[in-house]
Amino acid sequence: MSQSQTTCPFTGATSTPTSASSPSEQPFREAPSADWVTIEDLYKNPFPIYQRLREESPVHWVPEVNRYMVTSYSACHEIEQDEARFSANERNSLMKRSMGHSMLRKDNPEHQVDRDSYGATLRPATIKKHWNEIFAANNKKYLDQLIERGPGADFVWDYAAPYTAENLRLICGFHNSTQQDLQRWSQTLIDGTGNYADDPEVWARAEASSAEVDAAIDDMLPYLAATPDHSLLSNLASMPIPLEAIRANLKMTIGGGLNEPRDVLATTVWALLSNPDQLDAVLQDPSLFARAFEESVRWVAPIGMYPRETTQELVLEGVRLPAGARLGVVLGAANRDPKVFSEPETFNIFREKKPHLAFGGGVHFCAGTWIARAQVAQIALPELFRRLPQLQLDPRSASTDAGWVFRGMTKMPVVWES
Ligand code: HEM
Repeated sequence: MSQSQTTCPFTGATSTPTSASSPSEQPFREAPSADWVTIEDLYKNPFPIYQRLREESPVHWVPEVNRYMVTSYSACHEIEQDEARFSANERNSLMKRSMGHSMLRKDNPEHQVDRDSYGATLRPATIKKHWNEIFAANNKKYLDQLIERGPGADFVWDYAAPYTAENLRLICGFHNSTQQDLQRWSQTLIDGTGNYADDPEVWARAEASSAEVDAAIDDMLPYLAATPDHSLLSNLASMPIPLEAIRANLKMTIGGGLNEPRDVLATTVWALLSNPDQLDAVLQDPSLFARAFEESVRWVAPIGMYPRETTQELVLEGVRLPAGARLGVVLGAANRDPKVFSEPETFNIFREKKPHLAFGGGVHFCAGTWIARAQVAQIALPELFRRLPQLQLDPRSASTDAGWVFRGMTKMPVVWES
Protein backbone atom coordinates (compact mmCIF):
# COMPACT_ATOMS: atom_id res chain seq x y z
CA MET A 1 0.00 0.00 0.00
CA SER A 2 1.34 3.43 -0.87
CA GLN A 3 1.98 5.86 1.96
CA SER A 4 -0.92 8.16 1.10
CA GLN A 5 -3.51 5.38 1.16
CA THR A 6 -5.75 4.99 4.19
CA THR A 7 -7.69 1.96 5.30
CA CYS A 8 -11.26 2.10 6.48
CA PRO A 9 -11.24 0.48 9.94
CA PHE A 10 -14.74 -0.92 9.39
CA THR A 11 -14.65 -2.24 5.83
CA GLY A 12 -10.93 -2.68 5.29
CA ALA A 13 -11.26 -0.72 2.02
CA THR A 14 -8.33 1.47 1.02
CA SER A 15 -8.65 4.98 -0.27
CA THR A 16 -6.37 7.72 -1.57
CA PRO A 17 -7.77 11.13 -0.75
CA THR A 18 -6.21 13.51 -3.26
CA SER A 19 -6.32 16.86 -1.47
CA ALA A 20 -3.24 18.02 0.39
CA SER A 21 -5.55 19.23 3.14
CA SER A 22 -7.33 15.88 3.44
CA PRO A 23 -6.32 14.03 6.63
CA SER A 24 -4.96 11.18 4.56
CA GLU A 25 -3.01 9.72 7.45
CA GLN A 26 -6.08 9.52 9.67
CA PRO A 27 -8.44 6.57 9.75
CA PHE A 28 -11.83 7.18 8.22
CA ARG A 29 -15.17 5.42 7.97
CA GLU A 30 -17.92 5.27 5.38
CA ALA A 31 -20.92 7.55 5.95
CA PRO A 32 -23.63 5.76 7.90
CA SER A 33 -26.96 5.50 6.10
CA ALA A 34 -29.89 7.25 7.78
CA ASP A 35 -32.73 5.35 6.11
CA TRP A 36 -35.06 6.29 8.97
CA VAL A 37 -35.14 9.96 7.89
CA THR A 38 -38.19 10.95 5.84
CA ILE A 39 -38.87 14.21 4.02
CA GLU A 40 -42.33 14.30 5.59
CA ASP A 41 -40.84 14.24 9.12
CA LEU A 42 -38.17 16.79 8.17
CA TYR A 43 -40.86 19.11 6.84
CA LYS A 44 -42.94 18.86 10.05
CA ASN A 45 -40.09 19.28 12.54
CA PRO A 46 -36.48 18.60 11.57
CA PHE A 47 -34.88 19.41 14.92
CA PRO A 48 -35.22 16.04 16.74
CA ILE A 49 -33.91 14.38 13.56
CA TYR A 50 -30.92 16.74 13.47
CA GLN A 51 -30.19 15.96 17.14
CA ARG A 52 -29.97 12.23 16.44
CA LEU A 53 -27.98 12.69 13.22
CA ARG A 54 -25.43 14.97 14.94
CA GLU A 55 -25.03 12.56 17.86
CA GLU A 56 -24.40 9.60 15.52
CA SER A 57 -22.06 11.14 12.93
CA PRO A 58 -21.31 14.60 11.44
CA VAL A 59 -22.15 13.22 7.96
CA HIS A 60 -24.82 10.69 6.88
CA TRP A 61 -26.00 9.31 3.59
CA VAL A 62 -29.76 10.03 3.59
CA PRO A 63 -31.44 7.94 0.89
CA GLU A 64 -34.76 9.79 0.92
CA VAL A 65 -33.01 13.14 0.36
CA ASN A 66 -30.57 11.52 -2.10
CA ARG A 67 -27.69 13.44 -0.48
CA TYR A 68 -25.11 13.25 2.23
CA MET A 69 -26.45 15.46 5.01
CA VAL A 70 -23.77 17.34 6.96
CA THR A 71 -25.05 18.34 10.40
CA SER A 72 -22.15 19.34 12.67
CA TYR A 73 -21.17 23.00 12.98
CA SER A 74 -17.49 22.34 12.32
CA ALA A 75 -18.11 20.25 9.18
CA CYS A 76 -20.56 22.81 7.72
CA HIS A 77 -18.06 25.59 8.48
CA GLU A 78 -15.23 23.62 6.85
CA ILE A 79 -17.29 23.20 3.66
CA GLU A 80 -18.16 26.91 3.49
CA GLN A 81 -14.53 27.92 3.70
CA ASP A 82 -13.21 25.54 1.02
CA GLU A 83 -14.73 26.01 -2.41
CA ALA A 84 -11.83 24.14 -4.06
CA ARG A 85 -13.04 20.87 -2.54
CA PHE A 86 -16.73 21.75 -2.15
CA SER A 87 -18.18 23.25 -5.31
CA ALA A 88 -21.39 25.29 -5.44
CA ASN A 89 -21.71 24.40 -9.13
CA GLU A 90 -23.78 21.29 -8.56
CA ARG A 91 -24.52 19.01 -11.54
CA ASN A 92 -28.19 18.36 -12.40
CA SER A 93 -29.15 21.24 -10.13
CA LEU A 94 -32.90 21.87 -9.86
CA MET A 95 -32.11 25.47 -8.95
CA LYS A 96 -30.34 25.95 -12.28
CA ARG A 97 -33.33 24.45 -14.09
CA SER A 98 -35.81 26.64 -12.21
CA MET A 99 -33.92 29.94 -12.09
CA GLY A 100 -30.99 29.63 -14.52
CA HIS A 101 -27.29 29.57 -13.61
CA SER A 102 -26.98 32.25 -10.93
CA MET A 103 -23.97 33.35 -8.86
CA LEU A 104 -25.09 30.99 -6.10
CA ARG A 105 -24.30 27.97 -8.28
CA LYS A 106 -21.00 29.32 -9.68
CA ASP A 107 -17.48 28.99 -8.29
CA ASN A 108 -14.82 31.66 -8.56
CA PRO A 109 -13.68 33.37 -10.68
CA GLU A 110 -17.08 33.30 -12.52
CA HIS A 111 -19.01 33.80 -9.29
CA GLN A 112 -17.14 36.98 -8.36
CA VAL A 113 -18.01 38.68 -11.68
CA ASP A 114 -21.72 38.21 -10.98
CA ARG A 115 -21.40 39.14 -7.32
CA ASP A 116 -19.56 42.39 -8.20
CA SER A 117 -22.27 43.23 -10.73
CA TYR A 118 -24.67 43.87 -7.82
CA GLY A 119 -22.64 47.01 -7.04
CA ALA A 120 -23.44 49.00 -3.91
CA THR A 121 -27.21 48.33 -3.75
CA LEU A 122 -27.11 45.87 -0.81
CA ARG A 123 -24.24 47.46 1.13
CA PRO A 124 -24.58 49.15 4.53
CA ALA A 125 -23.81 52.71 3.28
CA THR A 126 -26.59 52.56 0.64
CA ILE A 127 -29.00 51.05 3.15
CA LYS A 128 -28.34 53.90 5.55
CA LYS A 129 -28.49 56.64 2.92
CA HIS A 130 -31.31 55.28 0.82
CA TRP A 131 -33.19 52.11 1.81
CA ASN A 132 -33.94 52.70 5.49
CA GLU A 133 -36.32 55.54 4.69
CA ILE A 134 -38.08 53.41 2.07
CA PHE A 135 -38.30 50.43 4.42
CA ALA A 136 -39.80 52.69 7.10
CA ALA A 137 -42.50 53.94 4.69
CA ASN A 138 -43.31 50.38 3.58
CA ASN A 139 -43.40 49.25 7.18
CA LYS A 140 -45.92 51.95 8.06
CA LYS A 141 -48.12 51.00 5.10
CA TYR A 142 -48.28 47.29 5.96
CA LEU A 143 -48.52 47.83 9.72
CA ASP A 144 -51.50 50.09 9.01
CA GLN A 145 -52.92 47.24 6.93
CA LEU A 146 -52.43 44.74 9.78
CA ILE A 147 -54.05 47.09 12.28
CA GLU A 148 -56.96 47.77 9.91
CA ARG A 149 -57.62 44.04 9.57
CA GLY A 150 -57.99 44.02 13.36
CA PRO A 151 -57.27 41.41 16.05
CA GLY A 152 -57.17 37.92 14.56
CA ALA A 153 -55.23 39.12 11.50
CA ASP A 154 -52.44 36.86 10.31
CA PHE A 155 -49.02 38.31 11.10
CA VAL A 156 -47.33 36.45 8.24
CA TRP A 157 -49.74 37.03 5.35
CA ASP A 158 -51.25 40.38 6.35
CA TYR A 159 -47.96 42.03 7.27
CA ALA A 160 -44.58 40.25 7.10
CA ALA A 161 -44.99 38.86 3.56
CA PRO A 162 -46.26 42.02 1.79
CA TYR A 163 -43.80 44.22 3.71
CA THR A 164 -40.73 42.19 2.75
CA ALA A 165 -42.02 41.63 -0.81
CA GLU A 166 -42.51 45.36 -1.35
CA ASN A 167 -39.00 46.06 -0.04
CA LEU A 168 -37.54 43.46 -2.39
CA ARG A 169 -39.53 44.80 -5.36
CA LEU A 170 -37.87 48.20 -4.94
CA ILE A 171 -34.42 46.78 -4.17
CA CYS A 172 -34.56 44.79 -7.42
CA GLY A 173 -36.01 47.71 -9.40
CA PHE A 174 -39.27 46.10 -10.61
CA HIS A 175 -41.17 49.36 -10.97
CA ASN A 176 -43.44 47.60 -13.48
CA SER A 177 -44.62 44.88 -11.04
CA THR A 178 -46.46 44.52 -7.73
CA GLN A 179 -45.47 43.02 -4.39
CA GLN A 180 -48.01 40.27 -5.12
CA ASP A 181 -46.07 39.45 -8.32
CA LEU A 182 -42.88 39.19 -6.25
CA GLN A 183 -44.57 36.82 -3.77
CA ARG A 184 -45.91 34.60 -6.58
CA TRP A 185 -42.59 34.54 -8.46
CA SER A 186 -40.63 33.80 -5.30
CA GLN A 187 -42.80 30.86 -4.20
CA THR A 188 -43.14 29.21 -7.61
CA LEU A 189 -39.41 29.52 -8.42
CA ILE A 190 -38.51 28.09 -5.00
CA ASP A 191 -40.99 25.24 -5.54
CA GLY A 192 -39.11 24.50 -8.77
CA THR A 193 -35.76 24.28 -6.96
CA GLY A 194 -37.32 21.73 -4.57
CA ASN A 195 -39.21 19.75 -7.23
CA TYR A 196 -37.49 16.42 -6.53
CA ALA A 197 -40.74 14.62 -7.45
CA ASP A 198 -40.49 16.15 -10.96
CA ASP A 199 -44.14 17.25 -10.79
CA PRO A 200 -44.99 18.77 -14.21
CA GLU A 201 -47.43 21.26 -12.65
CA VAL A 202 -44.71 22.62 -10.38
CA TRP A 203 -42.43 23.04 -13.41
CA ALA A 204 -45.23 24.73 -15.36
CA ARG A 205 -45.76 27.31 -12.60
CA ALA A 206 -42.00 27.92 -12.23
CA GLU A 207 -41.61 28.32 -15.99
CA ALA A 208 -44.55 30.76 -16.15
CA SER A 209 -42.96 32.88 -13.39
CA SER A 210 -39.56 32.66 -15.03
CA ALA A 211 -41.04 34.01 -18.28
CA GLU A 212 -42.81 36.82 -16.39
CA VAL A 213 -39.55 37.81 -14.65
CA ASP A 214 -37.68 37.79 -17.99
CA ALA A 215 -40.33 40.06 -19.52
CA ALA A 216 -40.28 42.42 -16.53
CA ILE A 217 -36.47 42.65 -16.72
CA ASP A 218 -36.51 43.29 -20.49
CA ASP A 219 -38.99 46.07 -19.85
CA MET A 220 -37.06 47.68 -16.96
CA LEU A 221 -33.46 47.59 -18.25
CA PRO A 222 -33.78 50.33 -20.94
CA TYR A 223 -35.88 52.45 -18.58
CA LEU A 224 -33.31 52.19 -15.76
CA ALA A 225 -30.41 52.80 -18.15
CA ALA A 226 -32.04 56.13 -18.95
CA THR A 227 -33.38 56.82 -15.43
CA PRO A 228 -30.94 55.25 -12.96
CA ASP A 229 -31.79 54.66 -9.31
CA HIS A 230 -30.29 52.61 -6.46
CA SER A 231 -31.76 49.26 -7.52
CA LEU A 232 -29.97 46.09 -8.61
CA LEU A 233 -31.43 46.28 -12.13
CA SER A 234 -30.28 49.86 -12.43
CA ASN A 235 -26.66 48.83 -11.69
CA LEU A 236 -26.93 45.90 -14.07
CA ALA A 237 -28.33 48.09 -16.87
CA SER A 238 -24.96 49.82 -17.21
CA MET A 239 -22.73 46.73 -16.87
CA PRO A 240 -21.34 44.35 -19.47
CA ILE A 241 -23.10 41.36 -17.89
CA PRO A 242 -24.83 38.84 -20.20
CA LEU A 243 -28.62 39.04 -20.06
CA GLU A 244 -28.77 35.36 -19.15
CA ALA A 245 -26.75 36.00 -15.96
CA ILE A 246 -28.84 39.06 -15.05
CA ARG A 247 -32.01 36.98 -15.36
CA ALA A 248 -30.65 34.08 -13.30
CA ASN A 249 -29.24 36.32 -10.56
CA LEU A 250 -32.46 38.28 -10.25
CA LYS A 251 -34.54 35.09 -10.05
CA MET A 252 -32.23 33.71 -7.36
CA THR A 253 -32.52 36.99 -5.43
CA ILE A 254 -36.32 36.96 -5.75
CA GLY A 255 -36.27 33.39 -4.41
CA GLY A 256 -33.79 34.15 -1.62
CA GLY A 257 -34.52 37.74 -0.63
CA LEU A 258 -38.19 37.49 0.30
CA ASN A 259 -38.97 34.33 2.29
CA GLU A 260 -36.02 34.68 4.63
CA PRO A 261 -36.69 38.21 5.93
CA ARG A 262 -40.42 37.35 6.10
CA ASP A 263 -39.65 34.18 8.06
CA VAL A 264 -37.15 35.73 10.46
CA LEU A 265 -39.57 38.58 11.18
CA ALA A 266 -42.41 36.21 12.06
CA THR A 267 -40.21 33.70 13.94
CA THR A 268 -38.64 36.46 16.05
CA VAL A 269 -42.03 37.91 16.99
CA TRP A 270 -43.40 34.43 17.76
CA ALA A 271 -40.38 33.68 19.97
CA LEU A 272 -40.58 37.02 21.83
CA LEU A 273 -44.34 36.68 22.38
CA SER A 274 -43.73 33.16 23.72
CA ASN A 275 -40.98 34.36 26.11
CA PRO A 276 -42.46 37.34 27.99
CA ASP A 277 -39.33 37.92 30.11
CA GLN A 278 -37.23 38.35 26.96
CA LEU A 279 -39.92 40.52 25.38
CA ASP A 280 -39.92 42.78 28.47
CA ALA A 281 -36.14 43.12 28.26
CA VAL A 282 -36.32 44.10 24.59
CA LEU A 283 -39.10 46.62 25.23
CA GLN A 284 -36.99 48.18 28.00
CA ASP A 285 -33.91 48.30 25.79
CA PRO A 286 -34.68 48.39 22.04
CA SER A 287 -31.00 47.90 21.19
CA LEU A 288 -31.71 44.23 22.08
CA PHE A 289 -33.84 43.81 18.93
CA ALA A 290 -30.57 43.21 17.08
CA ARG A 291 -29.75 40.34 19.46
CA ALA A 292 -33.27 38.95 19.13
CA PHE A 293 -32.80 38.91 15.34
CA GLU A 294 -29.45 37.07 15.50
CA GLU A 295 -30.75 34.57 18.05
CA SER A 296 -33.82 33.97 15.90
CA VAL A 297 -31.81 33.11 12.76
CA ARG A 298 -29.55 30.88 14.85
CA TRP A 299 -32.51 29.10 16.46
CA VAL A 300 -34.49 28.60 13.24
CA ALA A 301 -32.20 29.15 10.24
CA PRO A 302 -34.53 30.45 7.48
CA ILE A 303 -32.39 28.60 4.90
CA GLY A 304 -32.09 25.26 6.64
CA MET A 305 -30.01 23.46 4.02
CA TYR A 306 -28.11 24.30 0.84
CA PRO A 307 -26.22 22.08 -1.62
CA ARG A 308 -22.56 21.55 -2.42
CA GLU A 309 -20.71 18.89 -4.42
CA THR A 310 -17.28 17.37 -3.70
CA THR A 311 -14.70 18.01 -6.42
CA GLN A 312 -12.55 15.03 -5.33
CA GLU A 313 -12.54 12.08 -2.99
CA LEU A 314 -11.90 13.39 0.51
CA VAL A 315 -12.39 12.85 4.22
CA LEU A 316 -14.68 15.19 6.12
CA GLU A 317 -14.51 14.88 9.90
CA GLY A 318 -13.47 11.26 9.62
CA VAL A 319 -16.09 10.32 7.00
CA ARG A 320 -15.02 9.37 3.47
CA LEU A 321 -16.86 11.09 0.64
CA PRO A 322 -16.44 10.08 -3.02
CA ALA A 323 -15.71 12.62 -5.76
CA GLY A 324 -18.95 14.15 -7.07
CA ALA A 325 -20.84 13.48 -3.82
CA ARG A 326 -23.98 15.61 -3.48
CA LEU A 327 -24.01 17.23 -0.05
CA GLY A 328 -26.65 19.08 1.95
CA VAL A 329 -25.03 21.64 4.25
CA VAL A 330 -27.59 21.64 7.06
CA LEU A 331 -27.33 25.08 8.65
CA GLY A 332 -30.48 24.35 10.67
CA ALA A 333 -28.57 21.56 12.43
CA ALA A 334 -25.17 23.31 12.64
CA ASN A 335 -26.78 26.27 14.40
CA ARG A 336 -28.00 23.96 17.17
CA ASP A 337 -24.78 22.03 17.64
CA PRO A 338 -24.28 21.62 21.43
CA LYS A 339 -20.49 21.59 20.88
CA VAL A 340 -20.82 25.31 20.06
CA PHE A 341 -24.06 26.56 21.63
CA SER A 342 -25.14 25.71 25.17
CA GLU A 343 -28.80 24.64 25.46
CA PRO A 344 -29.07 25.04 21.69
CA GLU A 345 -32.76 24.10 21.40
CA THR A 346 -33.75 27.13 23.51
CA PHE A 347 -34.40 30.64 22.20
CA ASN A 348 -32.31 32.87 24.45
CA ILE A 349 -31.32 36.39 23.43
CA PHE A 350 -28.91 36.55 26.38
CA ARG A 351 -26.80 33.56 25.34
CA GLU A 352 -23.06 33.98 24.99
CA LYS A 353 -22.36 35.62 21.60
CA LYS A 354 -20.96 33.11 19.09
CA PRO A 355 -21.10 33.28 15.31
CA HIS A 356 -24.03 31.34 13.81
CA LEU A 357 -24.04 30.07 10.23
CA ALA A 358 -27.51 31.29 9.15
CA PHE A 359 -26.09 33.61 6.46
CA GLY A 360 -23.67 30.99 5.14
CA GLY A 361 -19.95 31.76 4.88
CA GLY A 362 -16.99 31.96 2.55
CA VAL A 363 -17.40 33.38 -0.95
CA HIS A 364 -21.19 32.88 -1.02
CA PHE A 365 -21.80 34.63 2.31
CA CYS A 366 -25.27 36.16 1.97
CA ALA A 367 -25.12 39.40 -0.01
CA GLY A 368 -28.39 40.54 1.60
CA THR A 369 -27.36 40.15 5.27
CA TRP A 370 -27.35 43.90 5.96
CA ILE A 371 -30.64 44.43 4.10
CA ALA A 372 -32.25 41.69 6.20
CA ARG A 373 -30.93 43.14 9.47
CA ALA A 374 -32.04 46.67 8.51
CA GLN A 375 -35.56 45.87 7.40
CA VAL A 376 -36.31 43.45 10.24
CA ALA A 377 -34.22 44.37 13.30
CA GLN A 378 -33.81 48.11 12.79
CA ILE A 379 -37.11 49.09 11.17
CA ALA A 380 -39.90 46.52 11.59
CA LEU A 381 -39.47 45.11 15.10
CA PRO A 382 -39.10 48.37 17.09
CA GLU A 383 -41.99 50.07 15.25
CA LEU A 384 -44.25 47.02 15.53
CA PHE A 385 -43.90 46.87 19.31
CA ARG A 386 -44.13 50.67 19.62
CA ARG A 387 -47.50 50.67 17.87
CA LEU A 388 -48.78 47.38 19.27
CA PRO A 389 -47.21 47.02 22.73
CA GLN A 390 -50.00 44.62 23.78
CA LEU A 391 -49.48 42.30 20.80
CA GLN A 392 -50.13 38.62 21.61
CA LEU A 393 -50.45 35.31 19.81
CA ASP A 394 -54.14 34.57 19.28
CA PRO A 395 -55.05 32.10 22.08
CA ARG A 396 -58.02 30.82 20.02
CA SER A 397 -56.08 29.93 16.90
CA ALA A 398 -52.69 28.21 17.10
CA SER A 399 -49.72 29.34 15.02
CA THR A 400 -48.01 26.80 12.77
CA ASP A 401 -44.49 26.51 11.41
CA ALA A 402 -43.08 24.13 8.81
CA GLY A 403 -40.23 23.37 6.44
CA TRP A 404 -36.62 22.28 6.57
CA VAL A 405 -34.90 23.53 3.38
CA PHE A 406 -36.70 26.79 4.10
CA ARG A 407 -38.36 27.05 7.51
CA GLY A 408 -40.72 29.60 8.96
CA MET A 409 -44.18 30.36 10.33
CA THR A 410 -46.96 29.32 7.97
CA LYS A 411 -49.80 30.78 10.04
CA MET A 412 -49.60 33.22 12.95
CA PRO A 413 -52.86 34.87 14.04
CA VAL A 414 -52.25 37.75 16.46
CA VAL A 415 -54.48 39.84 18.73
CA TRP A 416 -54.16 43.13 20.61
CA GLU A 417 -56.44 45.47 22.53
CA SER A 418 -57.98 47.73 19.93
C1 HEM B 1 -32.65 36.55 7.16
C2 HEM B 1 -32.55 36.69 5.86
C3 HEM B 1 -31.60 35.91 4.98
C4 HEM B 1 -30.95 34.73 5.22
C5 HEM B 1 -30.99 33.87 6.48
C6 HEM B 1 -30.13 34.44 4.04
C7 HEM B 1 -29.29 33.34 3.90
C8 HEM B 1 -28.44 33.13 2.83
C9 HEM B 1 -27.52 32.03 2.71
C10 HEM B 1 -27.36 30.91 3.73
C11 HEM B 1 -26.83 32.18 1.55
C12 HEM B 1 -25.73 31.26 1.02
C13 HEM B 1 -26.29 30.03 0.34
C14 HEM B 1 -25.23 29.18 -0.28
O1 HEM B 1 -24.03 29.36 0.00
O2 HEM B 1 -25.58 28.28 -1.09
C15 HEM B 1 -27.31 33.38 0.92
C16 HEM B 1 -26.84 33.87 -0.28
C17 HEM B 1 -27.37 35.01 -0.91
N1 HEM B 1 -28.33 35.85 -0.41
FE1 HEM B 1 -29.26 35.69 1.38
N2 HEM B 1 -30.33 35.43 3.13
C18 HEM B 1 -31.21 36.36 3.65
C19 HEM B 1 -31.66 37.52 3.05
C20 HEM B 1 -31.29 37.97 1.81
C21 HEM B 1 -31.78 39.18 1.18
C22 HEM B 1 -32.80 40.13 1.82
C23 HEM B 1 -31.18 39.26 -0.05
C24 HEM B 1 -31.32 40.31 -1.13
C25 HEM B 1 -32.05 41.39 -1.07
C26 HEM B 1 -30.29 38.12 -0.17
C27 HEM B 1 -29.46 37.88 -1.25
C28 HEM B 1 -28.56 36.85 -1.34
C29 HEM B 1 -27.67 36.65 -2.48
C30 HEM B 1 -27.59 37.54 -3.73
C31 HEM B 1 -26.93 35.50 -2.21
C32 HEM B 1 -25.87 34.86 -3.11
C33 HEM B 1 -24.47 35.28 -2.65
C34 HEM B 1 -23.37 34.67 -3.51
O3 HEM B 1 -23.58 33.62 -4.14
O4 HEM B 1 -22.29 35.26 -3.52
N3 HEM B 1 -30.38 37.37 0.97
N4 HEM B 1 -28.29 33.94 1.73
